[in-house]
Amino acid sequence: MKILLFGKRGQVGWELQRSLAPLGQIVALDYEGAGGLCGSFTDLDGLAACVRTVAPDIIVNAAAHTAVDQAESEPELARTINALAPGVLAEEAGRLGAWLVHYSTDYVFDGSGEAPWRESDPTGPLGVYGKTKLAGEQAVARCDRHLIFRTSWVFAARGNNFARTMLRLASERDQLQVVADQIGAPTGADLLADVTAHAIRSVQHRPDLAGLYHLVAGGETSWHGYARHVIEHARAAGQVIRVDSEAIQAVPSSAYPVPAPRPHNSRLDTRKLQAAFDLVLPDWQTGVDRMLLEILGQ
Ligand SMILES: NC(=O)c1ccc[n+]([C@@H]2O[C@H](COP(=O)([O-])OP(=O)(O)OC[C@H]3O[C@@H](n4cnc5c(N)ncnc54)[C@H](OP(=O)(O)O)[C@@H]3O)[C@@H](O)[C@H]2O)c1
Repeated sequence: MKILLFGKRGQVGWELQRSLAPLGQIVALDYEGAGGLCGSFTDLDGLAACVRTVAPDIIVNAAAHTAVDQAESEPELARTINALAPGVLAEEAGRLGAWLVHYSTDYVFDGSGEAPWRESDPTGPLGVYGKTKLAGEQAVARCDRHLIFRTSWVFAARGNNFARTMLRLASERDQLQVVADQIGAPTGADLLADVTAHAIRSVQHRPDLAGLYHLVAGGETSWHGYARHVIEHARAAGQVIRVDSEAIQAVPSSAYPVPAPRPHNSRLDTRKLQAAFDLVLPDWQTGVDRMLLEILGQ
C-alpha cells in the first residue's frame, strides 16, 4: 500500500508518520515538499501534480490552516488551504480510485445546546476557520472513498500546547483565570493517528464504512477543568507550582475577547465511529496524563 501524507510536521501529521508506517510505503510531505514533489496547499496545480506523480492508494491530509483567530483576517488563505486544496485532493483521489482521509473540527457547529453533536446534526460555523473547514468536508465527500474525522481540542507532547502554557503560568503566577463555558474533550494526536490507521485497515475490507465520523476522547471538560487537571497532576508529581488550586478561577469566554468566536458546546457524539470500527475511545484524562508524563520528563 502506498500512502501520501500531507502536513507531516503538524501535531497529527507527526503521529501519523508513526502509526501509518506499518501499513506500507509512506511519502510524507510538509509545506516545502521533497524530491520535486509539492506539499504546499497554496499551490493547487503543484498539489494535483504531486498526487499524479506519487499515484498513492491512500492520501492522508493532516495539513490545515489551524490558526483560528488569524483566519478571520486572511479568509482567502484559509479557504485555499482548508477547502480548495482538499477539493483538489478529492478530485485526484477520485481519478486514481484512492482513499482520502481528512480531518475536520467541532467548529463546524454553532456550539448551541448541551447535547453531544451527531454527524447528522445541522452545521452552523461561527467563524472563518469553521466555515472553511466545513467547505473542505464537503469537497472531500465528493470522493466516494473518503474518511473524514471531526475532532476537537487536539494536543500533542511535541511543540507548544495548552498544558505547557498552563504549567508555565502556574509556576509564575498566584492566580489564573481560565474559560469555563466552553465544553469539549481534549484529544491526543496519537489517539487520532492510531484510530486513523485502524480505520484505513478496516475500509480495505469494508469500503461501505466510508464517511464522516466524530472522533474525540471520552468524557468532557471545560478549559478550566482541563487546566486544573494539568496543574494538579504536575503538583502531585512534585513540580514547582505557585498557584493554589482555589486560585485557578473559572471565567466566561467574554472575559477573553478574541477575533473568532468559539462554540460553547464542542461535545461530539462518537457512537457512530465506535460501532463502525469496533473501537473504544479512552477518557480524555488517559491521553492528557500520558502527555504530561512525557513533558514533565517522568
Ligand atoms: N488543533 C486542534 O485543536 C484541532 C481541533 C479540531 C480539528 N483539528 C484538525 O485536525 C487536523 C490536524 O490539526 P493539527 O492540530 O495537527 O494542526 P497543526 O499542528 O497546526 O498542523 C497543521 C499542519 O498544516 C501545515 N500547513 C499549514 N499551512 C500549509 C500550507 N499552505 N501548505 C501545506 N501545509 C500547511 C502546517 O505547517 P506549518 O506548521 O509549517 O505551518 C502544519 O504542519 C486539521 O485538519 C485541523 O483542522 C485540529
